[in-house]
Amino acid sequence: MSPVPPIDAPPDPLAAVRQPMDRANGLPNAHYIDPDVYAEERDALIFGQWAGIGVAAQAPDPGDAFPVDFMGMPLLMLRDRAGVLRVFQNTCRHRGMILVDAPGNIAGALRCPYHSWCYATDGRLVATPHVGGPGQNLHPAIERDSLGLVELRNHVWRDVVWVNVSGKAPPFEQAMTAVIAHMTEVERPLFHGGADSHFELTVRCNWKLAVENYCESYHLPWVHPGLNSYSRLEDHYHIEHEGKFSGQGSHAYRPLRGEAGERFPDFANLSARWRRAAEYPTVYPNVLFGVHRDHAYAIILLPQGPEKTVEQVNIYYSGADTDPGLRARNTAQWREVFHEDVAVVEGMQKGRHAVHFDGGRFSPAMDGPTHCFHDWVAAQMQKARGGQPGQ
Ligand code: FES
Ligand SMILES: [Fe+2]
Repeated sequence: MSPVPPIDAPPDPLAAVRQPMDRANGLPNAHYIDPDVYAEERDALIFGQWAGIGVAAQAPDPGDAFPVDFMGMPLLMLRDRAGVLRVFQNTCRHRGMILVDAPGNIAGALRCPYHSWCYATDGRLVATPHVGGPGQNLHPAIERDSLGLVELRNHVWRDVVWVNVSGKAPPFEQAMTAVIAHMTEVERPLFHGGADSHFELTVRCNWKLAVENYCESYHLPWVHPGLNSYSRLEDHYHIEHEGKFSGQGSHAYRPLRGEAGERFPDFANLSARWRRAAEYPTVYPNVLFGVHRDHAYAIILLPQGPEKTVEQVNIYYSGADTDPGLRARNTAQWREVFHEDVAVVEGMQKGRHAVHFDGGRFSPAMDGPTHCFHDWVAAQMQKARGGQPGQ
């Protein structure tokens, strides 16, 4: 039994997080339950960075429009006539009406439902009916060239649509140099498995707990007994790249096989290492990757408030044609694994309402990738608050 620690917060709890991990604390409770800190983190950790909002497969054809409520920010993924995926604010330049409220295809122009201003799929304002009075579709004050949809910086990598809302992050390739280099060996064309290879889980936890749980293999024996039966704790290794990404890998991957021993085709020209390797890096802030010789997945965390997160899962293969039965089994297998994690992330969320919880202590041997993420969070928050420089 330990005495109740003083409730008064230490002078700088983020400095305690940034200690070497054998004496570091985890992030304070406020980072998981306080709406004000949630809003601060939205700006510093999500809108200020390159964050995933969805996948390009959600808008595969010219004219496809897919609205996303991204932490309250209305966004619109829109594939233009030339086939370029763009991300706009989903807000009309006239009176601020939401333009698209459900996924669909824009056959002609994108028409605002309020006063029918129309936008081309590349965002240009192309029609302003009666804007100069009845029957007058032009007015000198309404300069269409400057009233197109507001486009956000976006980039598609591994089919994930990344957006920098603030506009202030370094260019994507620069911000992601380290993780792109880490993944070079498995950089292959990805083919989305289709409707059966997409699912979502809603979890009652802060989005960071989903990251933290994904970062570690420590919980495998108790939370994933099935997975652990062939990919054991001792088969895993840490992935730690300070300030950018962290997670875990395994040396014991076993491809899924059908009744007759059939399996998904491998990605082309992988090195021998990938016969048994699997890697699960989290790219900060909110994209969780899974990479294997024969399939890959991306999980995008869509925070819904301090204590609720939607996990959007998309699974990819090395070619367009894969066996639907095997694909369904693969989806079911992953759904089960991710479902096994729900109770622990929700339990950790509840645990953070204990006023005497101090952020917790890490296992120096097992929790390195989680501490790596906390250090990044704390560094970004210090930077945003104008304290010590982050990295
Ligand atoms: S708000 Fe869109 S046309 Fe008026
Ligand atoms: Fe897990």
